[in-house]
Amino acid sequence: MTNVLLIGNGAREHALAEALVKSSKLYSFMAANNPGISSLSEKIKISSLNDFDALKAFVNEVQPDFAVIGPEAPLDMGVVDFLEELKVPSVGPHRVLARLETSKAFTRDVMAKYSVPGAPRFKVFEDLTEAKEFIEELEGFVIKPDGLTGGKGVKVQGDHLDTVEEAIDYCKDVLKDHQSVIVEEKLIGEEFSLQCITDGKTVKITPPAQDHKRAFVDDKGPNTGGMGSYSCEDHLLPFITDEHVQQAREITELMAEALYKETGVRYKGIMYGGFIVTKNGVKLIEYNARFGDPEAMNVLPIMKTDFTKVCKAVVEERLDDFELEFEDKATVCKYAVPEGYPSNPVKNVKIEVGDSKARIYYAAVDQREDGLYMTGSRAVAFVGIGDNIAEAEKIAQQAVSDVKGPVFFREDIGTERLLNKRIEHMKQLI
Ligand SMILES: Nc1ncnc2c1ncn2[C@@H]1O[C@H](COP(=O)(O)OP(=O)(O)OP(=O)(O)O)[C@@H](O)[C@H]1O
Ligand SMILES: [Mg+2]
Repeated sequence: MTNVLLIGNGAREHALAEALVKSSKLYSFMAANNPGISSLSEKIKISSLNDFDALKAFVNEVQPDFAVIGPEAPLDMGVVDFLEELKVPSVGPHRVLARLETSKAFTRDVMAKYSVPGAPRFKVFEDLTEAKEFIEELEGFVIKPDGLTGGKGVKVQGDHLDTVEEAIDYCKDVLKDHQSVIVEEKLIGEEFSLQCITDGKTVKITPPAQDHKRAFVDDKGPNTGGMGSYSCEDHLLPFITDEHVQQAREITELMAEALYKETGVRYKGIMYGGFIVTKNGVKLIEYNARFGDPEAMNVLPIMKTDFTKVCKAVVEERLDDFELEFEDKATVCKYAVPEGYPSNPVKNVKIEVGDSKARIYYAAVDQREDGLYMTGSRAVAFVGIGDNIAEAEKIAQQAVSDVKGPVFFREDIGTERLLNKRIEHMKQLI
């Protein structure tokens, strides 16, 4: 039996745990006691994910064959490098490679240096001398802090900023606590997520999915960590073709190669590309160096290939040994989040989750003697799986609307009305 160390404690990690325990023993290092992960684990350790002394003690105790890193923050801290010193290989990139996510400037510069296609016009600024001129040149602009911001730092013209003056002011703000700021051309199109698994040489794709960042129905309200996502039984999306998916896969293959040329280290882990289909083809918005949350829950539950086997092949650089297979099923994930989320969520309030046909993945909740309590961020994710998206959406909608307590959710995710909106939007562009 393979012993696997899982790091992290959100719904993404619960889905990872569920996929891993099919053929391995699980040891979980968590910042909070996720009841879903705990119920699947041989042993758990609750500690700050940045406490490497606690991690070392747990590694010595459970002797894992390899580790799977869920969230991005430990990657930014160099957890993979630290585990390597303890002779534990990881599914997750070394710190120099985690810059794929943790430094948007690094990613754009590597794309330019090695001619990886799919980048918008962009410039990185450490001071703002020429910034105004460049912003004025662009038809539309996007401002990005260089560094992790938990999905809340990027500001898009038309959504968060309007004038060049506002853009410059925001750049000044960013440079108060960031090394540099990236100004990008605003791309127009429909976004999709393509989570790829790589051993640094071979790139395997998983079914594309679409996330919903805005808090409220019809894409209104503030950006969140993601309110839910869907994928389709044909492993495409209603507004993309197989050609688009192949373009995105090719960009990721070229990027994996470029990262090796740039750093001399193989990227072993997840390259989660945030892509956008524009009238000029597929472009890259960003990479994340881990599975998406919620998008992990659209691909792991329908993976037919044994995930422990996939992880072993990643750490042993033999991913080209086999094909990654997925069920021809549609999936819809809807998150129940606390009232007031994202800016002012209710905390320490009890919720009740009913029985349903949906897969349930626990996130920011705490299992106490008298029940399940929300701890302030996205609480529970419900995933419907069906032969088509209508079936999957119905299962997820029924489950999430059955939650008792002060929560809200986006009922429109995966509905025909919202899918048609995406399709119409693409038609107007092309
Ligand atoms: N060049 C661009 N053109 C158009 N929209 C963009 C562009 N860059 C970013 N966006 C929009 O801003 C959102 C967030 O940007 P990005 O994904 O780079 O930031 P992030 O903070 O890393 O987000 P995440 O939490 O998804 O990792 C994107 O999902 C997209 O909607
Ligand atoms: Mg990101």
